[in-house]
Amino acid sequence: MILRAQSIKKSFSVGRRKLPVVKDVDIYVKKGENVSIVGESGAGKTTLVHCLSLLEEYDGGKIYFKEKPIDRKNIHVLRSGVQMVFQNFSASLDPRMNIKEAMAEPLRIKRFPLSYIEERVKEVVDIVHLPRHVLMRKKSGLSGGELQRVAIARALISSPELVIFDEATSALDTSTQAIILNLLIDLKMKFSLSYLFVTHDLTLANFITDRIYVMYRGRIIEEAPTEELFRYPLHPYTMLLKKGIFGCMMQVREGNSEDGCEFYPFCRWATKECGEHLPSLQKVNDKHFVRCFLYRR
Ligand SMILES: Nc1ncnc2c1ncn2[C@@H]1O[C@H](COP(=O)(O)OP(=O)(O)OP(=O)(O)O)[C@@H](O)[C@H]1O
Ligand SMILES: [Mg+2]
Repeated sequence: MILRAQSIKKSFSVGRRKLPVVKDVDIYVKKGENVSIVGESGAGKTTLVHCLSLLEEYDGGKIYFKEKPIDRKNIHVLRSGVQMVFQNFSASLDPRMNIKEAMAEPLRIKRFPLSYIEERVKEVVDIVHLPRHVLMRKKSGLSGGELQRVAIARALISSPELVIFDEATSALDTSTQAIILNLLIDLKMKFSLSYLFVTHDLTLANFITDRIYVMYRGRIIEEAPTEELFRYPLHPYTMLLKKGIFGCMMQVREGNSEDGCEFYPFCRWATKECGEHLPSLQKVNDKHFVRCFLYRR
């Protein structure tokens, strides 16, 4: 097991109210596995992976890296083992920096010798099949696909074991996306990497991942191997997500349920109980779990 997180909780303060964004999330990625978290905009996916990579402080829960509990004393273990490719990578780059400086930054922060950094930058540029001359350019001189390769190279530079991609390819056109995904598959084999993808694109999740978590309003509502999830989606929300019609979902009953299932207002199978109590993740088989009373045994 590379990464395991238990009961991760995160709220943001909005005025005087606390807005829970990540609610008791359990998640794991095994060595060599490709996992994705899918869900609509605002589901809490980015917040969750920021907690997992310690970019964001979480309010509760526990994170284990290779089964070692992560605490203040050994944060560096996770920081070097897990790297993120950000949702808005290009925006995070300083427009004045050239690509070489941007790529070298993670190593400079860790005070690696300059000669090592120099060599390592060239190495990762070759690994992601970028011509070395891009190193002297600024981000404005690169295409979307090239910038994505820079983002991947920058993540790989500190030799992580798990790379988390937050909507990393969603801004690219389909053919560039396919080229990048094939590159990722290639790199995974070469460097025994594990990947965690965050996406609202089910096609991408289907193409690249072994197992999927479906997240809805801060909670994991279904987990299954990719093939099974596509063939037999069980949660009413996952069924809609698969059909691609979640964006125009109509509310079917009054009220939001504070204590019940988050999907209660939209679910045509909901009963009174669904509005009052939160279903636990029901085990359907060894690998398929769903948070819905419809599947209670
Ligand atoms: N710093 C913050 N302060 C207050 N609210 C926040 C903050 N960051 C995120 N949120 C809120 O948390 C919720 C989840 O946001 P998050 O970015 O994690 O969603 P997401 O699933 O990644 O969405 P998308 O697919 O659009 O990237 C949203 O309602 C968002 O407005
Ligand atoms: Mg996001």
